[in-house]
Amino acid sequence: MAGHQVIVGSRSLDRAVEAAKVIAQTAGRPVRVSGLSNENAVSQADVVVLTIPFTALLETLKTVKPNFKPGQVLVNVSVPLETAIGGRATRTVGVWAGSAGELAASVVPKTVSVVTAFNNVSAELLKDPTKQVECDVLVCSNDDNAKKIVLDLVKGIAGARGFDAGALENSRTIEQITALLVSLNIRYKVKNTGLRITGISHVS
Ligand SMILES: NC(=O)c1ccc[n+]([C@@H]2O[C@H](COP(=O)([O-])OP(=O)(O)OC[C@H]3O[C@@H](n4cnc5c(N)ncnc54)[C@H](OP(=O)(O)O)[C@@H]3O)[C@@H](O)[C@H]2O)c1
Repeated sequence: MAGHQVIVGSRSLDRAVEAAKVIAQTAGRPVRVSGLSNENAVSQADVVVLTIPFTALLETLKTVKPNFKPGQVLVNVSVPLETAIGGRATRTVGVWAGSAGELAASVVPKTVSVVTAFNNVSAELLKDPTKQVECDVLVCSNDDNAKKIVLDLVKGIAGARGFDAGALENSRTIEQITALLVSLNIRYKVKNTGLRITGISHVS
Protein backbone atom coordinates (compact mmCIF):
# COMPACT_ATOMS: atom_id res chain seq x y z
CA MET A 1 0.00 0.00 0.00
CA ALA A 2 2.99 2.22 0.54
CA GLY A 3 2.57 5.33 -1.60
CA HIS A 4 -0.58 4.09 -3.32
CA GLN A 5 -4.14 5.24 -2.99
CA VAL A 6 -6.24 2.23 -2.04
CA ILE A 7 -9.99 1.86 -2.55
CA VAL A 8 -11.77 -1.00 -0.80
CA GLY A 9 -14.71 -2.26 -2.84
CA SER A 10 -17.73 -4.05 -1.44
CA ARG A 11 -21.31 -4.92 -2.35
CA SER A 12 -22.19 -2.67 0.60
CA LEU A 13 -20.89 0.89 0.81
CA ASP A 14 -21.10 0.73 4.63
CA ARG A 15 -18.92 -2.39 4.76
CA ALA A 16 -16.40 -0.80 2.37
CA VAL A 17 -16.15 2.38 4.46
CA GLU A 18 -15.82 0.34 7.66
CA ALA A 19 -13.10 -1.88 6.14
CA ALA A 20 -11.21 1.22 4.97
CA LYS A 21 -11.40 2.65 8.51
CA VAL A 22 -9.99 -0.54 10.02
CA ILE A 23 -7.12 -0.51 7.51
CA ALA A 24 -6.36 3.14 8.28
CA GLN A 25 -6.38 2.44 12.03
CA THR A 26 -4.18 -0.65 11.87
CA ALA A 27 -1.71 0.35 9.12
CA GLY A 28 0.71 1.85 11.61
CA ARG A 29 1.44 4.80 9.33
CA PRO A 30 -0.61 7.33 7.35
CA VAL A 31 -2.31 5.64 4.38
CA ARG A 32 -4.65 6.87 1.68
CA VAL A 33 -7.54 4.41 1.86
CA SER A 34 -11.25 4.82 1.21
CA GLY A 35 -14.29 2.59 0.71
CA LEU A 36 -16.69 2.52 -2.24
CA SER A 37 -19.21 0.21 -3.88
CA ASN A 38 -17.60 -2.42 -6.12
CA GLU A 39 -18.85 -0.57 -9.20
CA ASN A 40 -17.40 2.80 -8.16
CA ALA A 41 -14.16 1.22 -6.96
CA VAL A 42 -13.65 -0.36 -10.39
CA SER A 43 -14.44 2.97 -12.11
CA GLN A 44 -11.77 4.77 -10.13
CA ALA A 45 -8.91 2.29 -9.87
CA ASP A 46 -5.98 1.76 -12.23
CA VAL A 47 -5.39 -1.72 -10.85
CA VAL A 48 -8.38 -3.76 -9.66
CA VAL A 49 -7.64 -6.64 -7.29
CA LEU A 50 -10.34 -9.30 -7.13
CA THR A 51 -10.39 -11.14 -3.77
CA ILE A 52 -13.76 -12.84 -3.58
CA PRO A 53 -14.87 -16.48 -3.29
CA PHE A 54 -14.73 -18.32 -6.63
CA THR A 55 -18.51 -18.89 -6.56
CA ALA A 56 -18.98 -15.11 -6.82
CA LEU A 57 -16.42 -14.48 -9.57
CA LEU A 58 -18.64 -14.59 -12.64
CA GLU A 59 -21.57 -12.71 -11.13
CA THR A 60 -19.35 -10.02 -9.63
CA LEU A 61 -17.35 -9.43 -12.82
CA LYS A 62 -20.54 -9.25 -14.87
CA THR A 63 -21.92 -6.66 -12.41
CA VAL A 64 -18.86 -4.41 -12.62
CA LYS A 65 -18.09 -5.04 -16.31
CA PRO A 66 -19.59 -1.70 -17.48
CA ASN A 67 -17.31 0.12 -15.03
CA PHE A 68 -14.00 -1.11 -16.45
CA LYS A 69 -11.91 1.37 -18.45
CA PRO A 70 -9.50 0.54 -21.29
CA GLY A 71 -5.95 -0.02 -20.06
CA GLN A 72 -6.91 -1.16 -16.57
CA VAL A 73 -5.26 -4.15 -14.94
CA LEU A 74 -7.38 -6.79 -13.19
CA VAL A 75 -5.49 -8.95 -10.68
CA ASN A 76 -7.33 -12.15 -9.92
CA VAL A 77 -6.56 -13.62 -6.49
CA SER A 78 -9.62 -15.88 -6.37
CA VAL A 79 -8.96 -19.61 -6.42
CA PRO A 80 -11.47 -22.28 -7.51
CA LEU A 81 -11.41 -24.18 -4.22
CA GLU A 82 -13.82 -27.08 -3.85
CA THR A 83 -15.60 -25.11 -1.11
CA ALA A 84 -17.41 -23.49 -4.06
CA ILE A 85 -19.54 -26.65 -4.25
CA GLY A 86 -19.55 -27.48 -0.55
CA GLY A 87 -16.30 -29.46 -0.66
CA ARG A 88 -12.87 -29.04 0.87
CA ALA A 89 -10.52 -26.07 0.71
CA THR A 90 -7.69 -28.56 0.19
CA ARG A 91 -8.96 -29.39 -3.30
CA THR A 92 -9.88 -27.39 -6.38
CA VAL A 93 -12.68 -27.82 -8.86
CA GLY A 94 -12.12 -27.98 -12.62
CA VAL A 95 -12.83 -24.69 -14.37
CA TRP A 96 -14.11 -24.78 -17.95
CA ALA A 97 -11.87 -21.85 -18.93
CA GLY A 98 -8.81 -23.61 -17.46
CA SER A 99 -8.44 -21.50 -14.31
CA ALA A 100 -10.11 -18.70 -12.38
CA GLY A 101 -7.66 -16.23 -13.96
CA GLU A 102 -8.58 -17.33 -17.47
CA LEU A 103 -12.28 -17.34 -16.56
CA ALA A 104 -11.93 -13.73 -15.38
CA ALA A 105 -10.20 -12.84 -18.66
CA SER A 106 -13.09 -14.34 -20.61
CA VAL A 107 -15.61 -12.01 -18.91
CA VAL A 108 -13.96 -8.59 -18.69
CA PRO A 109 -13.57 -6.31 -21.73
CA LYS A 110 -10.61 -7.27 -23.96
CA THR A 111 -9.08 -3.85 -23.22
CA VAL A 112 -8.51 -4.94 -19.59
CA SER A 113 -5.34 -6.94 -18.90
CA VAL A 114 -5.81 -9.82 -16.51
CA VAL A 115 -3.00 -10.87 -14.19
CA THR A 116 -2.89 -13.78 -11.75
CA ALA A 117 -1.03 -12.90 -8.54
CA PHE A 118 -1.10 -13.19 -4.73
CA ASN A 119 -3.03 -16.50 -4.90
CA ASN A 120 -0.40 -18.19 -2.74
CA VAL A 121 -0.04 -15.42 -0.13
CA SER A 122 -1.89 -15.68 3.16
CA ALA A 123 -4.31 -12.84 3.93
CA GLU A 124 -3.29 -13.30 7.58
CA LEU A 125 0.23 -12.18 6.68
CA LEU A 126 -0.82 -9.35 4.38
CA LYS A 127 -3.10 -7.74 6.95
CA ASP A 128 -0.45 -7.52 9.67
CA PRO A 129 1.77 -4.50 8.97
CA THR A 130 4.24 -5.56 11.68
CA LYS A 131 5.08 -8.80 9.88
CA GLN A 132 7.43 -9.38 6.95
CA VAL A 133 5.53 -11.19 4.20
CA GLU A 134 8.16 -13.85 3.65
CA CYS A 135 6.54 -15.30 0.55
CA ASP A 136 7.22 -15.27 -3.14
CA VAL A 137 4.47 -14.04 -5.40
CA LEU A 138 4.01 -15.79 -8.75
CA VAL A 139 2.70 -13.32 -11.34
CA CYS A 140 1.42 -14.44 -14.73
CA SER A 141 -0.36 -12.68 -17.57
CA ASN A 142 -0.44 -12.46 -21.35
CA ASP A 143 0.39 -8.74 -21.06
CA ASP A 144 4.03 -8.05 -20.10
CA ASN A 145 3.32 -4.44 -19.13
CA ALA A 146 0.50 -5.47 -16.78
CA LYS A 147 2.82 -8.08 -15.25
CA LYS A 148 5.45 -5.39 -14.66
CA ILE A 149 2.86 -3.14 -12.94
CA VAL A 150 1.95 -5.95 -10.55
CA LEU A 151 5.59 -6.99 -9.98
CA ASP A 152 6.29 -3.36 -9.00
CA LEU A 153 3.39 -3.49 -6.51
CA VAL A 154 4.90 -6.64 -4.96
CA LYS A 155 8.14 -4.70 -4.39
CA GLY A 156 6.18 -2.47 -1.98
CA ILE A 157 5.37 -5.42 0.29
CA ALA A 158 8.08 -5.94 2.89
CA GLY A 159 9.68 -9.37 2.59
CA ALA A 160 7.80 -10.46 -0.54
CA ARG A 161 9.49 -11.20 -3.87
CA GLY A 162 7.64 -11.24 -7.17
CA PHE A 163 8.44 -13.67 -10.00
CA ASP A 164 7.39 -13.46 -13.63
CA ALA A 165 5.55 -16.79 -13.95
CA GLY A 166 4.82 -16.51 -17.67
CA ALA A 167 1.53 -16.57 -19.53
CA LEU A 168 -1.94 -16.38 -17.98
CA GLU A 169 -2.47 -20.11 -18.61
CA ASN A 170 0.02 -20.76 -15.79
CA SER A 171 -2.79 -19.66 -13.45
CA ARG A 172 -3.88 -23.32 -13.74
CA THR A 173 -0.79 -24.44 -11.82
CA ILE A 174 -0.55 -21.44 -9.47
CA GLU A 175 -4.14 -21.83 -8.29
CA GLN A 176 -3.60 -25.53 -7.48
CA ILE A 177 -0.75 -24.58 -5.12
CA THR A 178 -3.20 -22.64 -2.94
CA ALA A 179 -5.12 -25.83 -2.13
CA LEU A 180 -1.83 -27.48 -1.16
CA LEU A 181 -0.93 -24.55 1.10
CA VAL A 182 -4.35 -24.80 2.79
CA SER A 183 -3.61 -28.48 3.40
CA LEU A 184 -0.23 -27.58 4.96
CA ASN A 185 -1.91 -24.93 7.12
CA ILE A 186 -4.29 -27.55 8.49
CA ARG A 187 -1.60 -30.21 8.99
CA TYR A 188 0.78 -27.83 10.79
CA LYS A 189 -1.98 -25.84 12.57
CA VAL A 190 -0.90 -22.48 11.15
CA LYS A 191 -2.58 -19.84 8.95
CA ASN A 192 0.22 -18.51 6.85
CA THR A 193 2.20 -21.03 4.82
CA GLY A 194 3.64 -19.63 1.60
CA LEU A 195 6.09 -20.29 -1.21
CA ARG A 196 9.78 -19.57 -1.64
CA ILE A 197 11.42 -20.06 -5.06
CA THR A 198 15.09 -21.05 -4.89
CA GLY A 199 17.76 -20.97 -7.58
CA ILE A 200 16.99 -17.48 -8.90
CA SER A 201 19.14 -14.85 -7.19
CA HIS A 202 18.61 -11.98 -9.63
CA VAL A 203 15.04 -10.98 -8.78
CA SER A 204 14.37 -7.66 -10.49
N1 LIG B 1 -7.70 -15.74 2.60
C1 LIG B 1 -6.51 -16.09 2.11
O1 LIG B 1 -5.50 -16.21 2.84
C2 LIG B 1 -6.37 -16.32 0.62
C3 LIG B 1 -5.09 -16.53 0.08
C4 LIG B 1 -4.96 -16.70 -1.31
C5 LIG B 1 -6.08 -16.69 -2.12
N2 LIG B 1 -7.31 -16.51 -1.56
C6 LIG B 1 -8.47 -16.49 -2.43
O2 LIG B 1 -8.98 -15.15 -2.43
C7 LIG B 1 -10.40 -15.16 -2.49
C8 LIG B 1 -10.96 -14.40 -1.31
O3 LIG B 1 -10.59 -15.05 -0.12
P1 LIG B 1 -11.09 -14.50 1.29
O4 LIG B 1 -10.58 -15.43 2.31
O5 LIG B 1 -10.77 -13.04 1.39
O6 LIG B 1 -12.67 -14.70 1.11
P2 LIG B 1 -13.89 -14.12 1.96
O7 LIG B 1 -13.37 -13.46 3.19
O8 LIG B 1 -14.86 -15.24 2.11
O9 LIG B 1 -14.56 -13.06 0.98
C9 LIG B 1 -13.94 -11.84 0.66
C10 LIG B 1 -15.03 -10.85 0.30
O10 LIG B 1 -15.72 -11.27 -0.87
C11 LIG B 1 -17.03 -10.70 -0.85
N3 LIG B 1 -18.01 -11.75 -1.13
C12 LIG B 1 -18.31 -12.82 -0.38
N4 LIG B 1 -19.30 -13.54 -0.95
C13 LIG B 1 -19.64 -12.88 -2.06
C14 LIG B 1 -20.63 -13.10 -3.07
N5 LIG B 1 -21.43 -14.18 -3.05
N6 LIG B 1 -20.71 -12.21 -4.08
C15 LIG B 1 -19.89 -11.14 -4.13
N7 LIG B 1 -18.94 -10.86 -3.19
C16 LIG B 1 -18.82 -11.74 -2.18
C17 LIG B 1 -17.27 -10.16 0.57
O11 LIG B 1 -17.22 -8.74 0.51
P3 LIG B 1 -18.57 -7.84 0.65
O12 LIG B 1 -19.55 -8.64 1.43
O13 LIG B 1 -18.06 -6.65 1.39
O14 LIG B 1 -19.00 -7.55 -0.74
C18 LIG B 1 -16.11 -10.70 1.36
O15 LIG B 1 -15.68 -9.86 2.39
C19 LIG B 1 -10.82 -16.64 -2.51
O16 LIG B 1 -11.09 -17.03 -3.83
C20 LIG B 1 -9.62 -17.37 -1.95
O17 LIG B 1 -9.50 -18.68 -2.46
C21 LIG B 1 -7.48 -16.30 -0.21
